[in-house]
Amino acid sequence: MNIALLGYGKMGKEIEKIAISKGHKIGLKVTSDNAEFSPAELLGIDVAIEFSRPEFAVSNIKKCFEANVPVVVGTTGWYEYLDEIETICVARNQTLLYATNFSIGVNLFFKLNTQLADLMSKYPEYSVEVEEIHHTQKLDAPSGTGISIAEQIIENHKTKESWVNNETNQEKELAIISKRIDSVPGTHSVYYRSPIDEIEIKHTAHSRSGFANGALLAAEWLAKNKDGIYGMQDVLSF
Ligand SMILES: NC(=O)c1ccc[n+]([C@@H]2O[C@H](COP(=O)([O-])OP(=O)(O)OC[C@H]3O[C@@H](n4cnc5c(N)ncnc54)[C@H](OP(=O)(O)O)[C@@H]3O)[C@@H](O)[C@H]2O)c1
Repeated sequence: MNIALLGYGKMGKEIEKIAISKGHKIGLKVTSDNAEFSPAELLGIDVAIEFSRPEFAVSNIKKCFEANVPVVVGTTGWYEYLDEIETICVARNQTLLYATNFSIGVNLFFKLNTQLADLMSKYPEYSVEVEEIHHTQKLDAPSGTGISIAEQIIENHKTKESWVNNETNQEKELAIISKRIDSVPGTHSVYYRSPIDEIEIKHTAHSRSGFANGALLAAEWLAKNKDGIYGMQDVLSF
């Protein structure tokens, strides 16, 4: 495949290494230096992989739509524009795959989290809390993955109706605690605590290669699929 990397920072560079080792080509790399690239520069690109910054993701996705190039989006923190992007994608028969987390392990964790929330809903003596820890350069808080985990709990746990990004005593609110520590690639935990014990599920990324591998897998899958809007659950056939 001929791949465009929209965003060539920590993630873009990691994806490039794996893509080249798998025999793919990188036809375009975008950083802040050439951020004003035109959709015409995407000519000949099979798939674009977008890991840039929250404020640039939407315009980069629109350029891919304009150029008829399927796009995999890993950038988080732009989801207030999701409805608009999904509407354009469907109206113009374009192809989009986005995920708050491309790691296969995290997507397995999502399944476990959903099932555990359903089970724990019957035991009101347990409080529930989400914690996410990331490196200090991360721009958004809570993390997109932390929000996905909270939304899965809210959908499956009958006492929780919304999340807040701080500690809370409100029964209907679910706390997401965000911590920023040096070079942590991404750690997510869910705690169920009662006066007598505690249950914890935790995913720890040891490096960025899990995200990069998953994003490339998604790009390979997307290049073979039809127009539409997809997520990692489609790639992994969950
Ligand atoms: N979904 C997932 O699995 C997952 C995993 C990890 C990270 N992420 C998310 O992915 C995003 C990128 O993370 P990162 O760690 O790679 O960040 P990063 O190291 O800061 O890299 C961001 C890159 O975007 C470039 N950039 C700036 N403006 C741009 C524009 N207009 N168009 C295209 N690129 C532009 C930057 O260029 P300069 O270097 O010139 O500034 C830099 O190369 C973040 O939102 C992060 O939260 C998602």
